[in-house]
Amino acid sequence: MVYIIFIFGILGLWTQAGSGESNRYDNYTLFRLFPTEDSQFEAIKLFKDPSNTVEILKKSRAYNDSTDVLVPPDRLLYIAQFAKENNLIYDVKNNYGRIFESAEREPRRRALRGFNVFEYHSYASIQEFIETTASRNPELIKLQNLGLSYQGRKMKLVKISQNHNAGNPIIFIDAGIHAREWVAPAMALYLIQRLVMDPEARKNDLRGVDWYILPVVNPDGYEYTRASKANRMWRKTRSKNGPADCYGVDGNRNYGYYWAVSGVSKNPCDMETYAGHKPFSEPETQMVRDVMLANADRLKLYVSLHAYGQYLVYPWGYTAHYLPKQWKKLDALARNVSVAVQRAGGEPFRVMSAGQWYPAAGGSDDFAFGAVHVPYSYTMELTDGFEFLFPEKRLRNVLPQFYEGFRVFAAQIRKEFPTTQRTSRDDDKNS
Ligand code: ARG
Ligand code: ZN
Repeated sequence: MVYIIFIFGILGLWTQAGSGESNRYDNYTLFRLFPTEDSQFEAIKLFKDPSNTVEILKKSRAYNDSTDVLVPPDRLLYIAQFAKENNLIYDVKNNYGRIFESAEREPRRRALRGFNVFEYHSYASIQEFIETTASRNPELIKLQNLGLSYQGRKMKLVKISQNHNAGNPIIFIDAGIHAREWVAPAMALYLIQRLVMDPEARKNDLRGVDWYILPVVNPDGYEYTRASKANRMWRKTRSKNGPADCYGVDGNRNYGYYWAVSGVSKNPCDMETYAGHKPFSEPETQMVRDVMLANADRLKLYVSLHAYGQYLVYPWGYTAHYLPKQWKKLDALARNVSVAVQRAGGEPFRVMSAGQWYPAAGGSDDFAFGAVHVPYSYTMELTDGFEFLFPEKRLRNVLPQFYEGFRVFAAQIRKEFPTTQRTSRDDDKNS
């Protein structure tokens, strides 16, 4: 009893310290602008804050879908004016930074209970989870060292297979290329845990397909967003760029397929979409590229996990002008995934090409599809309604719903792409 009080006492102090911590976003305001006609879409598309301090969190596509901007106090008037001029309906959330959750809510409980996939974790504890899970399941999991991030963090690819020698088609999942999108690594880790621990999944969802999962593509950025609430909205990597003290490249503008032709910034000091000084300037995107190319012949599905907006989009991302000739297949599978998630109690996805949402070149989805020739490639924007701050408490609810979508993906890959080379010895093992 004394022990329990002691722990709660500490937690109390911790929580207080956590919520008392202030940051520059505390007096920012989130504006959600709702376009209802084409002229308003156009105005929003062209929107650029001359002071460059308003952060665009998300753009709208459909009429019931908002464009979200995070506004510092001295730009409130400017945004209100913009909304008024364009007759835009909007709502606001004041003091946005005050709703940021602390990165380490209950640091002690974790040690007592082990790894909980329904919580947000530090990179170190994610690595530990991966190592432990792999060493406990050596017949299913192989870890591949891809190299080091800019700041020297180890990047390990988690390969899950019932038979690593069978030549199964591969589903490749990247997550966490954008630092602040914490729900994406959480989903990747849930996939790993579910595929390995759930006997049903182990048997059925691994049948005939291999899952290659890279849960945190941008570990430096991820740790940066956890270090303080003032950093919570960081998106890019943490490489140093340009003569000024400017950091980070948008990893999802850095892939070398029609690099930088649309939707990018050329200014290293921009907060959001700096494409890098050349394609694959970042060690993190180089590693993903190399492992994709090394497995090109077996890669059949590529999914890049992001947040937020509940979109499931396919190539092309670099242009709104054309679709790939196979777009109907891409579209149909995405809609089936959406239906499965909905059946599981989740929200449906908005399905379209990435470029129809907003053109932006240099994404991993376009590279996988265009350069590596992966037949199915998607970007999945998880969750809606909480921006980048998807509450930890709700992970338990949504991650299993998304999982049902992944089962549909896997079923399609299994059906459409048989195992390429199968030795009789492998057959024996599987029977
Ligand atoms: N929110 C994602 C991003 O901005 C969407 C990427 C979609 N893919 C693309 N190639 N544009 O990175
Ligand atoms: Zn993203």
